[in-house]
Amino acid sequence: MSILKSSVTPRPVEERYERVRTLVFDSSSSPSQQLAAETAAAIRKADEEGRKMVLGLATGSTPVPFYRELIRLHQEEGLSFKNVVTFNLDEYFGLNRDHPESYYRFMHDQLFDHIDIPEDQVHIPDGTVAVEDSFAACQAYETMIDEAGGLDLQILGIGRTGHIGFNEPGSTRDSQTRMISLDRVTRRDAASDFLGEENVPRFAITMGVGTIMKAKRVVLMAWGENKAEIVRQAVEGDVTDSISASFLQEHEKATFILDQSAASQLTRYRCPWLVRSVEWDTKSTRQAVVWLSQELEKPVLKLVDEDYNEHGMSELLTKHGNAYEANIDVFNQLQHTITGWPGGKFGADDTDRPEREKPESKKVLVLSPEPQDAIVSMGGTLERLIEQGHDVTLVCQTSGNLRVADAEARTFAGVLSEMAEASDWGDQKAYADQILSQLEEKGDFGIDPKNVRWLKGLILRGELRDAARACKLEEKQIRFLDLPFYEEGRYRRFSPTEADVTAMSEILEQFQPHQIFATGHVADPSSLQAHCYTSLAQAFEKAAKSKWRDDCWIWGYRGKEKALEPFEIDMAVPMSPGQLERKKAAIHKFQSIRQDEIEAPKSNRQNARNYDSLGMAEYEAIEAFQRLG
Ligand code: F6R
Repeated sequence: MSILKSSVTPRPVEERYERVRTLVFDSSSSPSQQLAAETAAAIRKADEEGRKMVLGLATGSTPVPFYRELIRLHQEEGLSFKNVVTFNLDEYFGLNRDHPESYYRFMHDQLFDHIDIPEDQVHIPDGTVAVEDSFAACQAYETMIDEAGGLDLQILGIGRTGHIGFNEPGSTRDSQTRMISLDRVTRRDAASDFLGEENVPRFAITMGVGTIMKAKRVVLMAWGENKAEIVRQAVEGDVTDSISASFLQEHEKATFILDQSAASQLTRYRCPWLVRSVEWDTKSTRQAVVWLSQELEKPVLKLVDEDYNEHGMSELLTKHGNAYEANIDVFNQLQHTITGWPGGKFGADDTDRPEREKPESKKVLVLSPEPQDAIVSMGGTLERLIEQGHDVTLVCQTSGNLRVADAEARTFAGVLSEMAEASDWGDQKAYADQILSQLEEKGDFGIDPKNVRWLKGLILRGELRDAARACKLEEKQIRFLDLPFYEEGRYRRFSPTEADVTAMSEILEQFQPHQIFATGHVADPSSLQAHCYTSLAQAFEKAAKSKWRDDCWIWGYRGKEKALEPFEIDMAVPMSPGQLERKKAAIHKFQSIRQDEIEAPKSNRQNARNYDSLGMAEYEAIEAFQRLG
């Protein structure tokens, strides 16, 4: 199945809700490689025809695997970019080229510095242009694209606002390259890159929707569950200027390429019974009945035969005989996910419980990609596991030092410097003063030297110890792995290696856990969470011959990604109002906490409301988990 060639065969019926060509792959790596191979073929073809290939490029984490493959093709297979002209979609306004978050820097680090493209064939909007000159500069950008012969291929990602480039809601179909103000959601999503939302630029220069629509071919990529809802709206919803990606429905040669997670809200996956025959097993039955109950806003036990028939679920009804039987089946399944004993309840029949009864005290590893993640997402469950006598270890996979603001580091280094001076600790004083001057030298957005990152990591360790105490976890139950990929990288452009897997393997072999709680399996594959999960999955795979593995269950929790939907939940751990308050207090121990993390308890409340409206017991809040292995 070619990505760049539009398919000529009629689209299968199950895609009938999709208004733009949409290809779904198991992961992001194979389509990124395929797209790179097809792009390479187009570059070679243009070369043979004696013309230049004009390529429109995007930044962000989405195209990173694509760029890595282009670099590989250049280095290992001799692909030359000498006849390629590139135009990037956008640039933050007000950032110098050498700012680590400028798109100029990003593109050079991620692609241009590793291939043979002549610098004068690279075009990126200039973020440093004076406001009064920006209109002319934007017009000139359009002219340059036209003079190059127009874009042969435009690569796109999609933001959670539905933006392509930085065409935020409200951008019109014919908009051109221009200055725009960034949406709140977009600025929030960039907060960790800039060490806080307040540092994210307010304005950017972007190609317009009209500029993109003029490209001869457009490929939009999206990975991870966070994009699933906006992808559905762009692919299946009406064309609207509140979701600029929806305009691509009107482009003759636009293709969306998605991984399973980003595609999960499309009708063919979300409600497959509406577009094809479904084999009704336990899982699909639960998915369908929960959907029906939510769609009709009726508790599961109140659904009637007509509800099933009128919503494409008559086959399911036939299988169960009547609505009542199907309702009871799903009600029981949901009921059995609820447990106050996340480590299993010893001495109780575990046939219908999410976790095994034995052993009475389990060895539990709770993996937290950055130190705050596990507390934010499963602080209540952590507390229960400890109270119920399990042998719990919280493993911080990375130091999290990228999260800590300079101001915090300055405060700590300042205190150390004064203490050292007062008590005549010469070495420590010199050390603290060195950190203070390094902070000064690098300025607000310079890259942190090793010492500074180390101090920031220590600060976070201290905050985590405090937070963990609030969840009843002692200091000796916390392990810091400091995975190497994180120490050498920046958000959206980490490069994990075998060393990360080895570190995970060592911890698994040392603890030989019965339960592992982890996150990141549905996240954007270039995200920190996904890298952490992959290192676990690979280490787990490597332990195939270890005996402990047969007895080890993996539970997935959700962090930044979309919360689990009720039909996806395999274990629902209810929280009392008191527990929820304690969790909030624990979260607030982190100075570097972000708004979406502060709001995590809201999502716990939402889980409880969802269960309540399905007709289950009414709890204050619920932490939810999915069995992954
Ligand atoms: C970047 C751009 C944006 C991103 C979008 C997704 O040049 O134009 O539209 O493609 O914000 O960003 P990531 O890939 O980081 O999720």
